[in-house]
Amino acid sequence: MLNTRLAKRSNYFEFRNNILHVEGVSVLELAQSVKTPFYVYSVAVLEESYNALANSLRGLNHSIYFSVKSNSNVAVLRVLSLQGAGMDVVSGGEYLRARKANVPGEKIVFSGVGKTSEEMRLALEQGIRQFNIESIPELFQLNLVALGMSKVAPVSIRVNPDVDAKTHQKIMTGMSDNKFGIPIVRAEEVYQIARDLEGISVVGVDMHIGSQITNLAPFQKAFNKTVDLVNSLRNLGHDIKRVDIGGGLGISYSRDQDDPISSEDFSQMLLSKFGDMDLEIQIEPGRYISGNAGILISSVIYLKEDSDKNFLIIDAGMNDLIRPALYDAKHEFILVDSSSDGKTAIEVDIVGPICESSDIFSKREVLPRLKPGNLVAICSAGAYGAVMASEYNTRPLIPELLVTGNIYSIIRHRPKTVDIIDRDLIPYWLR
Ligand SMILES: Cc1ncc(COP(=O)(O)O)c(C=O)c1O
Repeated sequence: MLNTRLAKRSNYFEFRNNILHVEGVSVLELAQSVKTPFYVYSVAVLEESYNALANSLRGLNHSIYFSVKSNSNVAVLRVLSLQGAGMDVVSGGEYLRARKANVPGEKIVFSGVGKTSEEMRLALEQGIRQFNIESIPELFQLNLVALGMSKVAPVSIRVNPDVDAKTHQKIMTGMSDNKFGIPIVRAEEVYQIARDLEGISVVGVDMHIGSQITNLAPFQKAFNKTVDLVNSLRNLGHDIKRVDIGGGLGISYSRDQDDPISSEDFSQMLLSKFGDMDLEIQIEPGRYISGNAGILISSVIYLKEDSDKNFLIIDAGMNDLIRPALYDAKHEFILVDSSSDGKTAIEVDIVGPICESSDIFSKREVLPRLKPGNLVAICSAGAYGAVMASEYNTRPLIPELLVTGNIYSIIRHRPKTVDIIDRDLIPYWLR
């Protein structure tokens, strides 16, 4: 049964007079002015999550780069950059988003396994803190691009420590059969190559072992290997100033549970591994900051009771939030108006309108018998939600809203369906 208790770390999503609010704004009122489905984010949760991490890392020489891939809305980036965050980007597009949010190039790190020359050039032109380089061909290409611009590119080599992050297999990145990074056993060889390249200046070591990691042990294993690597690289004369440990901190997708790893425990662990190594530790959290800062609001279209199962068909689909279909992710649902909670309960599968059997948000939920137009909120949708949305079934990308206190702003409009269709061109020979 859905209840009205609220997620830890997201107590800015609260019921007032039985109506879900985001900070001081009623979701009912939002849905009266913006057609569902839409995402809505809380500035307070973004700030609080960022500052919780930053404060617990206080004892360590560190810097934080928000992982733009988790939520790339420029307004969200602006909120975080005002708190002091740098940005971790994985494409030229994300780089430009960070810049539009007024983040200086020197606070942007560029990750990703397939950076193109054009993307390298863009970052070298406008400024970059470091490129996280993932292969020897990429290293050579960056060297060429940098030399062509008479620049020297700051580089950390992403190493793959071959550690099982114990998360969903589609978001593991630190195993030897994943495409990411250079096998840690070959790292010394690659650092020697990099040292001889005039367009490259090696500044550190980088890794990222996966996402939604719920236990400290995989991090510890990976970081033990990193410490050994930094020591041996320094013995070989490499000037290793920084270690970028990537992101991956998991969150709770259950409203009545704490996050699986507290920022304090994580920071303590980092301090014990790296505290006396004369290093700057860089961290690239995404989901930990944005995940519980957003919800997806959707309306019931139909309650379908004419087969063995009951289906609650809502107007959000897997094209709007793909995590359940792609990662078997479970998001909690709450009713925006909780006053009918518990009455006339019925078991339903909550599904979207997309013509795919995988368009299922949740199975066997026991809910009050809802009517067309009733509003539901899909929780913990701030990370890997809007950014992974598509126009599948020719459905426009849905709006994003940002709330602070008693005010809200639309931070991305819904495009018109006709504009989507007008992007297609009929060649003259078919007219
Ligand atoms: C290189 C890199 N850094 C950071 C992140 C952010 O991960 P998370 O959102 O789990 O913190 C990712 C996501 O997979 C990533 O690929």
